[in-house]
Amino acid sequence: MAEQQWGAVDEYLEEVLIGSDPALDAALATSERAGLPKIAVSATQGKLLHLLALTVGARRILEVGALGGYSAIWLARALPADGRLISLELSPAHAAVARANLHEAGLEKVAEVRTGRAVDSLAELMDDGAEPFDLVFIDADKPSIPEYFDFALRLTRPGSLIIVDNTVRGGALADASSTDASVIGVRRLHELVAAEPRVQATTMQTVGVKGYDGFTLIRVVD
Ligand code: SAH
Ligand code: DHB
Ligand code: MG
Repeated sequence: MAEQQWGAVDEYLEEVLIGSDPALDAALATSERAGLPKIAVSATQGKLLHLLALTVGARRILEVGALGGYSAIWLARALPADGRLISLELSPAHAAVARANLHEAGLEKVAEVRTGRAVDSLAELMDDGAEPFDLVFIDADKPSIPEYFDFALRLTRPGSLIIVDNTVRGGALADASSTDASVIGVRRLHELVAAEPRVQATTMQTVGVKGYDGFTLIRVVD
């Protein structure tokens, strides 16, 4: 019953606050036809990412985990014409779908998808002396979240925002005895954040079409 209600409310919110959006709808349809898993952020979560990117005035955005480019479209739409979104994706097949969807959304000039293991692409960004990112969205393999957070800290500046998806995991976040590598990953993230004087953070629990999960908001302090 509860799950059904969470879904119904998300559907209501999507209808009243977002409505039909040809590029986003097409991105999901293309992703489904290509056989990608249906694990993109929900519409209401995507809009939250968009609003957060606008709120911090993001000009440079880094995403870890592109899938079919759905969240990348929401984020890239918040960029100015000379802004940049770099999204990192392990799977060449997912990356190809993401590139096509970003192109279809008219965002190919501001958004790029880099294929490979995210840790390698992140190390490359460091080596290249990449300009700091204003917003980082971490949404790839969950056991590696602590590593991605570490890179994100080095690739941002005071005032930047780091957002980590799927950090509550149906409540398993609170289970200290969990042997699930993803749960260990999100618990470790919280320990790192708590011990890190350069950030301030909170985690919000969420319910909706994707069930019970949550996200962590981390601000790099000024
Ligand atoms: N952000 C997307 C969803 C991402 S799903 C959206 O909301 O639309 C997670 C993605 O991370 C998958 O496409 C998966 O292939 C990718 N991924 C998994 N392990 C990875 C790794 N080691 N490096 C880079 N990407 C990885
Ligand atoms: C999965 C990954 C995600 O990023 C998500 O939001 C939901 C599920 C997964 O790997 O199952
Ligand atoms: Mg996710």
